[in-house]
Amino acid sequence: MKADYNESIPNNVNLGDDRRLLRALERWQPAYIQWWRDMGPVESTDLQVYLRTAISVDTDGWAHFDHVRMPDYRWGIFLAEPEPDRTIGFGAHKGEPVWTDIPGEYRTELRRLIVTQGDTEPASVEQQRQLGRTAPSLYDLRNLYQVNVEEGRHLWAMVYLLHAFFGRDGREEADEMLERHAGDPDRPRILQAFNEQTNDWLSFFMFTYFQDRDGKFQLAALAESGFDPLSRTCRFMLTEEAHHMFVGETGVMRILQRTCELMREHDTADVRPYGGINLETLQKWINFHYSICLDLFGSERSTNAANYFSMGLKGRYQEAKLDDDHKLDGEQIEIPKVTADGIDHETIAALTAMNLKLRQDYTKDSQRGLNRFNKMIAAHDIDFVLTLPDEKFNRGIGIFSEVHASPDGTLLTGEVWEKGKREWLPTADDHAYVNSLMVPVTEPGKMAGWIAPPKRGIHGQPIDFEYVLFH
Ligand SMILES: [Fe+2]
Ligand SMILES: [Fe+2]
Repeated sequence: MKADYNESIPNNVNLGDDRRLLRALERWQPAYIQWWRDMGPVESTDLQVYLRTAISVDTDGWAHFDHVRMPDYRWGIFLAEPEPDRTIGFGAHKGEPVWTDIPGEYRTELRRLIVTQGDTEPASVEQQRQLGRTAPSLYDLRNLYQVNVEEGRHLWAMVYLLHAFFGRDGREEADEMLERHAGDPDRPRILQAFNEQTNDWLSFFMFTYFQDRDGKFQLAALAESGFDPLSRTCRFMLTEEAHHMFVGETGVMRILQRTCELMREHDTADVRPYGGINLETLQKWINFHYSICLDLFGSERSTNAANYFSMGLKGRYQEAKLDDDHKLDGEQIEIPKVTADGIDHETIAALTAMNLKLRQDYTKDSQRGLNRFNKMIAAHDIDFVLTLPDEKFNRGIGIFSEVHASPDGTLLTGEVWEKGKREWLPTADDHAYVNSLMVPVTEPGKMAGWIAPPKRGIHGQPIDFEYVLFH
């Protein structure tokens, strides 16, 4: 279905037929644009960026590529096509037709799910707003801005649901999306990982590898929802999310390639004197991003998560592929438990362990990319393996927030942890070093010295294409 670009807000939801909703969104639009100018990418207003814009939701040919001034980007509302005769795939309502309107009794829970997801979208734009100043190439600068405009669109996607289905409190929630800000001490974003700074490009690539992958898993679980508009919204968002993770994975891979080349060339693991990012530094960034992302999944044991599942609002990753009754009534599961003697296990209702299940799927998916990174290291005949830290490492939420553990999962006293932290997590010195490398490269086709060029350009363009025009 083609999007209607004649409307003030491009959409494939027949917004033109619902003048009240259209007017409400048109009232929110200037506040959004103002937010983009105040909190979005710095010094970017006059640039022309080679962006893809969604023009339809068909699997092939949904995107159009052209140079666009970012404030003129047409942020639109797109839902994947409805699946005919779709039924709810899990929970107490399994087998019933999906809801095309809000089931009144689940209104509060749905609003909370949509607000929590929606809040992460503008947060990431805010976190990344300084990065345009130091992009390692025009190709990367373009990718940053592509990710940013799409996160902006994801906010539109959630705001549409709030406006269309939640009346006045939905409109208030939509306004508040622009009032909370990443890292703001008074009005922070809802989830902690979305308040952290992302001021260097190593952090950006790790963010798009780890945080955006959390996004993928949350969206995939919401795409299972019995509330069909949410499901259709998330299904289309997932197509965009895939590009964000591509940016993250190829970004880390290109850094790694450059590091390995420098290690071979100079026959040393200490590539800092040669302007590279050494493997230990990469490992520290992985330790940090992965551990704070595990917190995004919430507590291992959660009545809210159980309710979301039973109510049919939020499913499991690839629900239909799971070989059980999709209701889990009376099912039990073992989860870890912290005791005075260390880690033990306890048996709980499987329904209450939904967050843990989603997190475990996230871990598997994260490990797959690491395996590819490690192949790159091995191909250079270097004896080093990048690893995901243990689930107990550096945790702020859930069972393991009560203990200290090393990346390999050994429990530690507070004192040993404080000492070890410097080896495992980025220090002020590490940040200073990485920041010292962040020098903008704006000549088409040229790359900063700490990162290898990409394998290919965007949308069939050469690597030395002018992805960003500065005039
Ligand atoms: Fe997003
Ligand atoms: Fe994303």
